[in-house]
Parts: sequence; C-alpha cells; structure tokens
Amino acid sequence: MYIASTAVFLAEILKIIACLVVMRYQQPSWHHFVDFVKREILGRPRETLKMLIPSGLYALQNNLLYVALSNLEAATFQVTYQMKILSTAIFSVVLLGRSLQRDKWIALVLLMIGVTLVQSQSMGSSSSPTNPTTTTAAAPPGTLEDPEDLLADALIKDDDDLGVLIATQSPFIGLMAVITSCISSGFAGCYFEKILKTSDTSMWVRNIQLGISGAFFSMVGMLMYDMQPIREGGLLQGYDGLTWIVVANQALGGLLVAIVVKYADNILKGFATSLSIIVSGVISFYLFNFQPTMTFVMGAFIVMISSYLYGVDFIKKFVPVKPH
Ligand code: C5P
Repeated sequence: MYIASTAVFLAEILKIIACLVVMRYQQPSWHHFVDFVKREILGRPRETLKMLIPSGLYALQNNLLYVALSNLEAATFQVTYQMKILSTAIFSVVLLGRSLQRDKWIALVLLMIGVTLVQSQSMGSSSSPTNPTTTTAAAPPGTLEDPEDLLADALIKDDDDLGVLIATQSPFIGLMAVITSCISSGFAGCYFEKILKTSDTSMWVRNIQLGISGAFFSMVGMLMYDMQPIREGGLLQGYDGLTWIVVANQALGGLLVAIVVKYADNILKGFATSLSIIVSGVISFYLFNFQPTMTFVMGAFIVMISSYLYGVDFIKKFVPVKPH
C-alpha cells in the first residue's frame, strides 16, 4: 500500500508542474518564461498569500470529510453532503452578486434530491452500523463506488476498527463536520471564482499560487501523520503505475475544476459533477456489470430534468425555436 498523504502532496506538486508546462508553451522562449515566473509568482508573494484562504479551506474540508464519515451513517452523510449544492448557490449570490430566479432555485433543490437518490445505490459498500458485514468488503457487483465510499472503506481496515468506529460515533460531531464542509466548499469555490474572474492574472498563475499553499498544507499533514513510515520506507513506497494514475487524475481533476469555474461557474460545476455520476453509471453498466436500481434510474431522471430546467434559458438562446 502507498501512503495516502504522500499522494495528496504529490498531486499538488504535479499540478504546479502542469501549470508551469502550459505557461512555458504560452511564452515565446525560455527567457520570457523565466522572467514571467519571476515577475508573476516569485515577485508577488502577497497574491500567493491570498490563496491561503481557499487552499486552507479545501484542506479543512478534505479533513472534515474523514470526521464526518467516521461519525455518521453513510446514508446520512450522502444526503447531508448534497447541501453543498445549495451553499454554493447562496455564496454565488452573496459573494459574486449573482441573482437566481425562483425556477433556478427549484432546479437546484431537484438536483439535490436527484443526486441523493443516485448516490443511494453506492451505499451498500459503505459503513453502516446496522450492516457491518458489508463494510470491509469491496463493493459488491452492481453497486457504484463513490469516492466518499472509498474514503469510508479506507478508514475501516478491519473489524476491530469497525467496533471502535461504532462505539465512538457521534452524529452531532458528524453533522457539524458535514455542515462545515458544505459551507467551506461553497465559500472556497466562489472565492476562487471571484479571484479568477475579477483580475487579469492568468488562471495558470492562480493555480500555481493555490498549489504552493496546497503543497504546504498537505506537507504539514503528511509529516504530522506519516513521518514514521515515510522515514522507514521512503516517500514513494508502494507506488506503482496505478498509483501515479490516481495522483495524475487528482491533479488534472483539480485543474479541470479551475477551468470550469473560470469559463462557466461553480453552480454549473455542481450540475456537471452530478451528471458525471450518471455517465459513470452508464459506463459501469457496460464495463463493470453495474446493475442500476429503480432508485438510481429515478435519481438520474430527476438530475437530467433539473439540469434541463436550470439550462433551458441558455439552450433557448443558442437554439432559437423556428415558427411554423
Ligand atoms: O467538493 P468541492 O467541489 O468543493 O471540491 C473541489 C475540489 O477541487 C477540492 O478537493 C479542491 O482541492 C480541488 N480544487 C483544486 N484546484 C482548484 C480548485 C479546486 O484542486 N483550482
């Protein structure tokens, strides 16, 4: 097994390297590139400090998810975590001055309901104190693994862990952790969107600034929790090709989030990630023997209706209805 905290740290480093590569191609020569990096990144430390806020919040959020998962039943977690769709919408109004009509709020509530139903099919593989036998097993055929479920599985390594987990579960702490994560996700996303959209600084520079503070926070976490095993076996112990794919996926996924936020917005990102769960379901149906339940199909249907409702004005703008 590789050490998870090293993968988080390396993903941040990879993100920085990927941005540097893009920036090099945007500059006519190495000389211009070095000048650009000196001027925009090394010469403006205050701008990097500004990114401590979203990256600190992302670090907090990612840690609180562990707290939430250890203290709540999977079902409660899945339902409550969808509140981040609404918290993002609220921060879009408050921080970005966006105004949302009633039909958009209805679409957002429908999206929350739809994602919750879709996600419910993956609960079979997660921690549920009433069904402890499924907890340590991999997802049975026919269930869709969700990243949060994988996190839950990683938390519980054997039956002793599960005993401790159930004995020490505190729903109140779990709920507080989820609520804080949702608020943090909404705020950090909209803060980052505001920074991207209200200044001329390139998105790649912003991601490097975010990556520097992200690397700092993840390094602190890595040293705090895993100093001993890293000393004994090295930073890259247990790494194979698949591990590097996971790291690259995490890094490039983060950059994709930034591109979506820059050219679309955080609310649309919520729709995109929800639709992506359904696309995963369809791919898993063909490749991995995934058997969708009625609840999954209903949830998928509601997600699609809510996406249509939210985007109908946009669609009308580009596809004008011809009079007969
Ligand atoms: O759940 P939520 O949408 O808030 O998660 C966003 C994720 O994207 C966080 O885990 C954050 O670390 C990552 N991110 C990133 N680079 C960005 C923006 C977000 O890696 N520029």
